[in-house]
Amino acid sequence: MKEIILAFTSFLAAILAGLLYNRSLKRERPIHISIIHNLPAQSSQFFTGRAKEISMLRDFLSPTNPITIGGVFGIGGIGKTSLLIKVGQECVNSKSFDFILYIPARQFSLSNDYKKSDGILDTIISTAIYTLDFHQNKLSDSEKEAFARASFFQKRTLLLVDGLDETSESEQNELVNFLLSLPSQTKIIISSRRKIDLPFSIKLDALTFDEYRTLISQELASTNTNLSDEIAEKLYQLTGGLPLAVRLATSLLKDYSMETVLRKFKKSDNSLFEFIIKPVINKYRNKYPYNKLLMTMAHLTNLATLPEIAHKAGLADNVQLVEEGLVNLTKESLLTKNDDKYLLHPLVRGYILSKEIS
Ligand SMILES: Nc1ncnc2c1ncn2[C@@H]1O[C@H](COP(=O)(O)OP(=O)(O)OP(=O)(O)O)[C@@H](O)[C@H]1O
Ligand SMILES: [Mg+2]
Repeated sequence: MKEIILAFTSFLAAILAGLLYNRSLKRERPIHISIIHNLPAQSSQFFTGRAKEISMLRDFLSPTNPITIGGVFGIGGIGKTSLLIKVGQECVNSKSFDFILYIPARQFSLSNDYKKSDGILDTIISTAIYTLDFHQNKLSDSEKEAFARASFFQKRTLLLVDGLDETSESEQNELVNFLLSLPSQTKIIISSRRKIDLPFSIKLDALTFDEYRTLISQELASTNTNLSDEIAEKLYQLTGGLPLAVRLATSLLKDYSMETVLRKFKKSDNSLFEFIIKPVINKYRNKYPYNKLLMTMAHLTNLATLPEIAHKAGLADNVQLVEEGLVNLTKESLLTKNDDKYLLHPLVRGYILSKEIS
């Protein structure tokens, strides 16, 4: 019932916005729009790899592809934001969209702190108004809002919603309802650490060794540091090929010796573990069967099947519970699933072993 009311309200809002838009088109002075995107300037940020993912996103964004909502998922620091912005920039250059909105989902919660009545929709609309940059036009606030709302219906729009996991479940539902009300030419890419079920999705994995070497050489270009193959290999294992970890390691190298940097990763003693790995582990550390599964898998160095994991965790008589647990941990990007086998993310494994949580 709630969905029907919401859909109906969105429909009415769309009609009203369309009418106001048409009225605004009949203005004596046409409205000038100078900016069609609000992507953060990242051109100075070095970007490597992800060719396969970029090509999959290009296919998804093609007007001939009927799917409208896609997702990019992966553990914190794997490069979801970087990929979204890279693809967004590409769309700006190719002019494949008229209107490109980048919306960091944490803005929703931020705006809620300031003004209780602000919701996701308000944030998206105010971002659109800001992006459309009406300053050359003498428009009232309600005209601006109508124009911004109508833009979603009149223009070919790309909406990049970054970090959906940083919002509450009710905000996520509000967003999904809004997205479902948008016309079919609108494309939406959502990024989240925790996987959600969408018609099209990409799971981001570690950089390959070659991509990692490219990134590290770039990061160390301004210093005199030269990594031997052996050290480079060691650092790759310890950072798990996670781009954020690689950048952190290279910035630590500006202050610390290589031995100390390697130790900081071996002992999970740096901000990456504090801010990315620890919070998600804490969510599960006292929850059965997750605690048992995490501990068991931390001691496995190779991919293992569900029955093998169940057996090692002493849960062979409750395979269904194990399956539920593995599915959820995979959705959280703590595990990798390859065919029917699972493996703990190397940084998560390192963290659990160094802290020996139970
Ligand atoms: N393909 C890449 N090439 C070079 N650097 C990268 C790449 N991907 C990510 N990085 C770097 O790694 C760091 C983390 O990337 P990013 O912020 O995109 O991760 P994220 O998955 O969005 O993380 P979070 O879940 O915390 O939002 C950034 O400093 C970014 O510049
Ligand atoms: Mg991000």
